[in-house]
Amino acid sequence: MMNSSEIRKQFIDYFLEKDHKFVRSSSVVPTDDPTLLFTNAGMNQFKDIFLDKKKPTYSRAVNSQKCIRVSGKHNDLEEVGVDNFHHTFFEMLGNWSFGDYYKEESIKWAWELFTKVWKIDVNRLWVSVYKDDDEAYNFWTKIPNLDNDRILRFGNKENFWEMGETGPCGPCSEIHYFIGKDISSQNPNGVNLSDEYRELWNLVFIQYNRESDGSLTDLPMKHVDTGMGLERITSVLNKQYSHYETDIFKPIIDKIVDVSGKDTSYKNCVPHKVIADHLRMLSFSIADGAVPSNDGRGYVLRRVLRRAVRYGDLLGIKDNFMHLLIDDLIDIMGKPYPEIFDKKNHIIETLKREEDSFRKTLDKGLIKFEEMVKDSKNKQVFSGDDSFR
Ligand code: ALA
Repeated sequence: MMNSSEIRKQFIDYFLEKDHKFVRSSSVVPTDDPTLLFTNAGMNQFKDIFLDKKKPTYSRAVNSQKCIRVSGKHNDLEEVGVDNFHHTFFEMLGNWSFGDYYKEESIKWAWELFTKVWKIDVNRLWVSVYKDDDEAYNFWTKIPNLDNDRILRFGNKENFWEMGETGPCGPCSEIHYFIGKDISSQNPNGVNLSDEYRELWNLVFIQYNRESDGSLTDLPMKHVDTGMGLERITSVLNKQYSHYETDIFKPIIDKIVDVSGKDTSYKNCVPHKVIADHLRMLSFSIADGAVPSNDGRGYVLRRVLRRAVRYGDLLGIKDNFMHLLIDDLIDIMGKPYPEIFDKKNHIIETLKREEDSFRKTLDKGLIKFEEMVKDSKNKQVFSGDDSFR
């Protein structure tokens, strides 16, 4: 077994040895990019470098970035809890080249880290490239222990990566891993289709800017932007194919079982998983300065908190409970991200206040609803206005 802290460190060390500079994760609340409500990828903080608006003092970078995908172009909210591997908040391990190395090195190093350092079984790996990207395709064919039948071509949806409606973008190449029991049942048609094939690492070859009129313009230089979910790689390296079984989530799930008295078989564990996921999204965004409110970013927080509380309700939890999970989250994440430790009291107060006000709104709403129902019985009609209200 290898825990997530070791995996994070091994990733970063691997690229430090290849002359990359370690750059800290930026805030999940971007202050200088009006196109984003939340940081949705490791490359966000390097956007101006790609666009040639800022000169970097280094040409290679590595980090682990806090990401939130619950609004805009990348939104995984509906998958959370229904499956075991999508999250509103996750950590993205990444390496970058700013006009330095390009496809050949990024492909070679990704494969080396996977198969030599982490010894991932090559008989379970699949690779995808953008349909017209012969260059990337050819570099993959040069990898000695990768069968050419395992290199697949896909179109825009799968293999052209963009951060949002506008911004730096380009064709990408991904590495997928087959988690199924029977390796002889693998089939290229399952890649990008079946949940048995997990996308682990995305290598993006940034060469364009998507303009606001939808057109693509060439960037002055070519760059590399890669991203690998720490939760996914931790799950694969430990053969715990539900992320919620890994050290990243397990203590939080256990605490939810304690608080609710409902074990993980209850309702297929969906409520436990949703709550654990949403706790992370809320705690990190509150630590980075977001506040639940009635519009924009704050409204996303409010909706996510209310969703967690409703799932708590399904577990029979009637009192404020989200703040009871914070200590477990800090045990897991406080070392690499000390901000959640530093902001612990603020996170607790914010969660309690918001949960309280939601419960009051619900209570008030239920009383109002009862009155309306009574009233509508006299009129035989429940009006559109009342249902809206
Ligand atoms: N920016 C790329 C992604 O988020 C690596 O998948």
